[in-house]
Amino acid sequence: MSETLERWGSKRAFILAVTGAAVGLGNIWRFPYVAGENGGAAFLLIYVAFVLLLGIPVMMAEILIGRAGRRGPMQALGVLASEAGASRHWRWLGLFGAFTVFCILSFYSVVSGWSIEFLVASVNGNFNGASAAEIGAGFEAFLANPGLLIFNHSLFLFMTMTVVAAGVAKGLERLNNLLMPLLYGLLLLLAIYATTTSGFGTALSWLFLPSFEDVTAEVVLHAMGHAFFTLAVGACALMAYGAYMPDEQSLPKAAFAVAVLDISVALLAGIAIFSVVFAQGMDPADGPGLMFVTLPIAFSELPWGSFWLSVFFLLLLLATWTSAINLAEPMVATLQGLGWRRSTATAAVALSVWLIGLLSAFSFSTLAEFRPLFGRNVFELVSSIPPDIFLPMGGLLIAIFAAWVMPQARVISALDAGERGYLLWRTTIRWVSIPLTFIVLLGGLL
Ligand code: PFF
Repeated sequence: MSETLERWGSKRAFILAVTGAAVGLGNIWRFPYVAGENGGAAFLLIYVAFVLLLGIPVMMAEILIGRAGRRGPMQALGVLASEAGASRHWRWLGLFGAFTVFCILSFYSVVSGWSIEFLVASVNGNFNGASAAEIGAGFEAFLANPGLLIFNHSLFLFMTMTVVAAGVAKGLERLNNLLMPLLYGLLLLLAIYATTTSGFGTALSWLFLPSFEDVTAEVVLHAMGHAFFTLAVGACALMAYGAYMPDEQSLPKAAFAVAVLDISVALLAGIAIFSVVFAQGMDPADGPGLMFVTLPIAFSELPWGSFWLSVFFLLLLLATWTSAINLAEPMVATLQGLGWRRSTATAAVALSVWLIGLLSAFSFSTLAEFRPLFGRNVFELVSSIPPDIFLPMGGLLIAIFAAWVMPQARVISALDAGERGYLLWRTTIRWVSIPLTFIVLLGGLL
C-alpha cells in the first residue's frame, strides 16, 4: 500500500478545498427548507450550537486522521488502528463512510441537476414576467418529467467524475479560488436586495427570534444531522482531503475559518429566500422546491433579473460541483487503496451512483408512491436518513477513534495546534462532542 503523494498546493488551497466541500446544496437549498419544516429560529440556533460543539471538533478529528494516515479512509484507519494496538476492524468505518456518501451523492446529483436545468431556463429568460403561480407550476411540471431529471443528473455526475478521475488536488484548486469569493459576493447582493422587500422584517424575526415550544427530539436530531451535513463531516470525505493536507498547517484555524464561512453562507441564503417567501405569502415549510421557486420569483421582478438569476444558478452549480467532488473522493480513494486503478474506481463509482440516483429522479413521478420504509419514498429516504443518522453515527465513531484510540503523539502532530490547543480540543471532543452526539442520536432514534 503506497502513501498518497498528491498535496494541496498551499494552506489557502486546503481551506478553500474544505470550504468547497462544505458550501453547497446544504447551505443554499437544504438549510432553508429543513429550517422551514422545523420551525425556523430555534432550529437555526440549535444547528449553530451543534456546529460549534460537535461540528468543528469532529471536523478536526476527521481531517487529522486522514493527515496522520496519508491514505484512503479505510486504509488510513486500518494502519492507525494497528499502530495503536487497536482492532483492525476500525477500517470498516471507512467503508461505512463510503456507503454514506454513496447514498448522499445519489440524490445530491439529481438536485444539482435541477440547477443545470434552471441555469439554462434563466439564460433563456423563461422566468421573465412569469407570475409566482406560473413559476411554481413550472417547477412541478419539471419534477414530473423523469427524462429531464435523468438527463441533468447524468450531466452533473459526468462533470463531477471527470474532475475526480483527474485527481482532486490539482483540478479543484483553481476552481475554488475563483468560485468561493464570487458566490459569497452574489449572495451578499441578494441579501441586500432582500432588505428592500416587504417580507424582510418577518424573515428576520422568523429566522432569529426562536420559540422553543415546538422543539422536539426530532427537531434536535435534524439540526444535528444538518450541522454534520453542511460541514461535510461524518462520512470520511474530509478524511480523504486531509490525506492531501500540507505538512505545516494548523488544523483548528482551518476548521474555524471553514465553519464561519459555511454558516454565513447559510444565513445569507436564508435571509434572501425567506424574505421572498414572506413577501409572496408563501409557506416556509414548502419542502425541497423552496429555493427553486422563491428565487426565480424574486429575480423575475428585478431589473436585469434573468442575468442575475443565471449568475446565481451558475454559482450554485459550481458550489454543488465542488461538494459532489468531495462526496465522490472517499469512495474512489477507498477502492484505490484496495488496489484499483483510479480510472476504473471512478467509473465504477459513477455507474453505481448513477443507477441508484435514478430512484431519486423517479421519486417525483413514477415512483412517488413507492414507499419502502417509514412511509417515505426513495428521495425522501436518502435525503434524510444518511444526513440525519449516518453522518452523526460516522462522526461519533470518528471522534472516538481520534480522541480515545489513536496514540496522543500522533494526534498532537496531526492537529498542529500546540499543547494547549490539543488539550482544549481533546477535552471538548471527549466530554462534550461525543456524549452530546450519542444522546441526541439516541433521543432522536427512540
Ligand atoms: N457539505 C455539503 C453541502 O452542504 O452541500 C454536502 C456534503 C459534502 C455532505 C460532503 C457530506 C459530505 F461528506
